[in-house]
Amino acid sequence: MCSHARSRLSDGYLDEKACTVECPTHNAVFSLATGEALEFPADEPIPTYGIELVGDDLYIDLPDD
Ligand code: FES
Repeated sequence: MCSHARSRLSDGYLDEKACTVECPTHNAVFSLATGEALEFPADEPIPTYGIELVGDDLYIDLPDD
C-alpha cells in the first residue's frame, strides 16, 4: 500500500532497472530495495521484506505479529 493515500502499489508501475515502483494514483515513487519514498507526494516509507527464491518457491520474511 502507498503511504500517501492507501492506494495499491501492486497496481502501480514497476521500473525494474531503477528498482522502483510508481503509485498509480498520484505518482509517488518508492525504492523497492529500501521502501524509501523517492518522489512527492509520499513522504513516508513503505515496509519492505526480505525474500529468497528457492527453485520455484519464493519465501517472504514477514514480521511476527
Ligand atoms: S495514493 Fe499513492 S501517491 Fe497518492
